[in-house]
Amino acid sequence: MATIEENLNKAARALSDADAVMITAGAGIGVDSGLPDFRGNEGFWKAYPPIAKLGISFSQMANPQWFETDPELAWAFYGHRLSLYRNTSPHDGFFKLLEIVQKKQGSYFIFTSNVDGQFQKAGFDTEKIMECHGSIHHFQCANPCGSAIWDASQVDVEVDENAFRAIPPLPRCIHCTSLARPNILMFGDWDWISHRTDSQGARLSSWLNEVSAKKMKLAIVEMGAGNAVPTVRMQSEQVARMHKGLLIRINPRDYFVPSGHISAPLGSEEGIGKIYELMDEK
Ligand SMILES: NC(=O)c1ccc[n+]([C@@H]2O[C@H](COP(=O)([O-])OP(=O)(O)OC[C@H]3O[C@@H](n4cnc5c(N)ncnc54)[C@H](O)[C@@H]3O)[C@@H](O)[C@H]2O)c1
Ligand SMILES: [Zn+2]
Repeated sequence: MATIEENLNKAARALSDADAVMITAGAGIGVDSGLPDFRGNEGFWKAYPPIAKLGISFSQMANPQWFETDPELAWAFYGHRLSLYRNTSPHDGFFKLLEIVQKKQGSYFIFTSNVDGQFQKAGFDTEKIMECHGSIHHFQCANPCGSAIWDASQVDVEVDENAFRAIPPLPRCIHCTSLARPNILMFGDWDWISHRTDSQGARLSSWLNEVSAKKMKLAIVEMGAGNAVPTVRMQSEQVARMHKGLLIRINPRDYFVPSGHISAPLGSEEGIGKIYELMDEK
């Protein structure tokens, strides 16, 4: 078994040698910025004691039915998260990673299930990000009257934290004035409007095709992606297989990697910080 130091050295070499870098991330990347991940009911309920009291799991809460049956509860959950993410600054690992990938001749692309907009906040190019579960900073009609998705930066949602209820007026559709909801893919969600994410996905595919066509060396840096909703982990592994990439998985708990790839059992800020220090060419 290789030691952590050996793995970090390997990761630094792989990142120095790479012509192009794909960054993949789940909720765990935000932990070092002070954001909660939702690791199991335990993690979710620790972050949301009022929801624990109601005995509602993450998959039950992240469900579009609440916008119909109890809009003030639905908007308490999303409104609280909206202001939390707006008020959070990305940790240093984001900026070090940006410095590394900006210098790559083949550039970079991000694939994240996070809806929090932290990569954009850290200065990554919005045209090089795919948010596979959508974004909390964009809204859509809850009872879709069309396919509009709009920027929500001008909308504030006030939440009574104790009662865990949003205080009306709740966000409204800019076209038909029905209730609005975040443009986030929820569980059992047939009304999610996907064209924003689809366009991001098309840009990601053409970047990956270019990386392959030009025979570029690809490194994939994955941070904070859990096993419960394995979309990000599967994406990292699939891209590594299909585009001959080397995967560097940074995760303090779920750090297992397929053989031939690199595991760094650390938090993302510390992991990126150490790899950055070990790189000869930054
Ligand atoms: N910030 C967000 O946007 C946000 C937050 C919570 C959940 N979600 C959504 O909920 C689902 C949750 O799945 P998930 O896999 O992203 O998260 P998860 O909460 O299921 O798992 C978090 C993972 O991060 C790891 N982790 C914990 N601390 C870390 C650290 N300091 N550095 C690096 N990794 C760390 C954990 O070991 C775990 O593997 C996703 O679909 C996502 O869309 C989004
Ligand atoms: Zn509408």
